[in-house]
This record gives sequence, C-alpha cells and structure tokens, in this order.
Amino acid sequence: MRRTEHWFEPARFGLFVHWGPWARAGWEASWPLVGGVVTLPLGQDIPAATYHANAAGWQPDPAAPEAWVAAAAAAGMRYAVLTTRHHDGYALWPSRHGDHGVAKGAPGVDIVAAFVAACRRHGLKIGFYYSLPDWHHPDYPAFTDAMRPYVFGGYQAATPEQWARYQAYVRGQITELLSDYGPIDMIWFDGAWERSAELWDTVGLERLIRQLQPDILINDRLPGQGDFATPEQFVPPEPPATPWETCLTMNMSWGFNAGDDRYKSPAALVHTLCEVAGRGGNLLLNIGPDGAGRIPAPQAERMAEFARWMGRHGEAIIGTKAGLKPWQFPGPTTCKGNTLYCHLLMQPVAPVSVRGVPVQHLKQVSVLGHDGPLPFETRIPVLDELMHVDGPGEVVIDVPEALRDPVATVLVLEFDCDPARIAPATES
Ligand code: GLC
Repeated sequence: MRRTEHWFEPARFGLFVHWGPWARAGWEASWPLVGGVVTLPLGQDIPAATYHANAAGWQPDPAAPEAWVAAAAAAGMRYAVLTTRHHDGYALWPSRHGDHGVAKGAPGVDIVAAFVAACRRHGLKIGFYYSLPDWHHPDYPAFTDAMRPYVFGGYQAATPEQWARYQAYVRGQITELLSDYGPIDMIWFDGAWERSAELWDTVGLERLIRQLQPDILINDRLPGQGDFATPEQFVPPEPPATPWETCLTMNMSWGFNAGDDRYKSPAALVHTLCEVAGRGGNLLLNIGPDGAGRIPAPQAERMAEFARWMGRHGEAIIGTKAGLKPWQFPGPTTCKGNTLYCHLLMQPVAPVSVRGVPVQHLKQVSVLGHDGPLPFETRIPVLDELMHVDGPGEVVIDVPEALRDPVATVLVLEFDCDPARIAPATES
C-alpha cells in the first residue's frame, strides 16, 4: 500500500493557511521583502527594514487557529497545513534555533501548538509547511535591498561555514517541529529552487524526518524525495502518475493581502474540487487570515459555501477515486466501490448521458442529497441487445430542475459491479 493511501488520498480536500507577520500589514506573504514575484501580481515591494520592523510588533493570537480549523472541518476538509515558517523566516513556534519568531516577538505564544490542538479537536490530519530558504537568517544569507530585484537563479551564496550553520539551523527547527507536537501527518516543503538538492541534503533531511515521524508524508518540494506532487494554482491537464495535490488561492494571494479582491467565485472553487477529485487528486485550498487571525469575509463566505455544498455532497468527494474518462460524462466523475458519482457543473439543457458503463448492472440512479430513485433509460448497441451481450451502454437521465443544486448537482449511479467495467463479463 502506498504511504499516501492511508489518509491522504481518501481525504481529497484540505486547508492551507498562510499566516505570518505580513498579515498585520496586509501584505502578501514574504515576497514583498524581495520586491515581489510575477506570479503574485498584487504583491507589494517593501524595503527589508520596513518589512522586518512590521514583524517586531506583531502579537499573534493563539486563539486564531481554532476558528480556521473549525471552518475547515465544517467545509468537509480532512487536513490542514500551516505555514510554520515562510520564506521571511518568522517562526510561529518558540524555536530554540534562530532568533526570528514568536520566541522573541511574542513570548509565551505558540501558534503551532494551538494549530495542532485545534486539528486534533476537530479530527483533521496535521501538516506543517516549512520554507527551506530563510530570507532573514544571516547565514542563508539574509536578503538585503542591495540584492533587488529578486532574480531566479541569481542567489547570493553562503560560505561553507555559513552553510553548515544554516543547515544545522534547519535541521534543528525541523527536529523541534517533528518532536515537540506529537504525531504529525505531513511536512510541506517550499522554496527548494534556491539551492541544489545536494546543498539542501534532501537525502539526509528525508532520513531525519522519517526517523522522527515514520508515518509522515513529505511533499515533492524536497527534490528527489517526496510522496506526492504539488501542482500550484492549476488543475493539471494530465493527472500526474504519482499522488498529487493542487494548492490554490481563493484570490490572487497566499497571505492576507488587503487590496486583493480578485476572488474566484464560490461556484468556481467548488467546481475545481470536483475536477480535482475526478482526476484522482487532492485540493489544498488556501486562506490568508488577517493580522488578528480572522478569516477575511470573502474567504469565510467561500468556506461557508463549501460547508453547504459538502454537507450534501461530501460523499461524492471524500474517500473516492478518479471516475470515468472525460468522454463518458459531461463533467467530472468519481467512484467509490460500485457507486459512480457524476458531477454536473452546468445546468443541463437536455437529459444527460453517462456512456460506456455496464448498464445491465445499474441498480439505481438518484440525486445526491435527495431521497428516492430517479427514472432512467438505458441504451445498448442493437446487436448486443439482440444477442443478449452484457456489454457497456448508455444511461440517459432527465434531471428535474427541482432537484438541481445551484452550484453542482451530483448524480449517483449504483451498480452491482465496477462502474468503469467496459469489457463484457466473461461467461463462466
Ligand atoms: C510558492 C510561493 C509561496 C507559497 C507557495 C504555496 O512557492 O513562493 O509564497 O507559499 O507557493 O504553494
């Protein structure tokens, strides 16, 4: 059994939380410190001294994670991933390594502990995002205004002594995170592009991590290692061969970016979850709480829409596998045992067809969330009908308007065999 099959693949839906001192100022996470990046067009450009001065005054509220995780649980999410330390180097737990974080900035506060406790209370699996680069650490070395603009590939190198100290710092922090908070389900790396796998010593890091937490999952941003792929901000046209997770923002920013109101609609976000699940992947949907830890209103509204939709349709997402091929239904499909879930993401203008399924094994059709079977018709090739061949055919369903969901309707087709079975059953 693949490591990801235990809880990660069945989970399908998780919460990403980008929270750090930037939220206090309403800036995008970390990138303003280096002058921005093209992929985050609404990010700011803030001089290093100003950027770090903002962190010094931040008092993160340890009560905040409870509300995020409660919202995630209500939305049907099964795990959550928190930025324990983003590229700007600010540690959300009282690390004994380095001097940038709550240890100095907000003594007595441990946001990681509060997050872990909230996840355990709500039964969510626990993930720690950790940036390999630290743009504040003197040995990395720290990013200064003289290094602007940020150039991919043009990073300041550390001396061997600096790098040895930096590696000890990273290993020290990872050891704390994976020793002091009980069982942790996932570590989510980022930023590896700034150094080679050899310099990061990804092999050594992987060994350390699995010593500390044998069952943990590691994402693929620890080059050469990792249990799952992490396409960012898009649904891959061809699903990766490995288990995968699309990470996605609701607007154009990861952190709380006060001026960013370019939101995807609640319906578009629900559709993305259906598409991702239909291709056998996970969706890690991001929120960027404000400095006080509150979920911004447009994000809370989207979480509420997920709570509504998943409340009725969660069984078509959680615990499912990828369904049929795209030509078989005009929308994504998911499977659980002999049950096929057909996600209708548009209002049909005619009865809809599910093609190439073992129609003679179809027991019942219904609309998820509504009691009672729905009438359906089946068609098979004429000769198969005449010769009594148990082959694939087409199911035609007229979906009554009253049963349609305003965002996405799910048709449930229950078979007494694998719905993806195409070949006729062999005579025994
Ligand atoms: C990118 C960004 C980072 C963000 C991450 C999430 O790598 O650098 O800001 O946290 O994507 O996937």
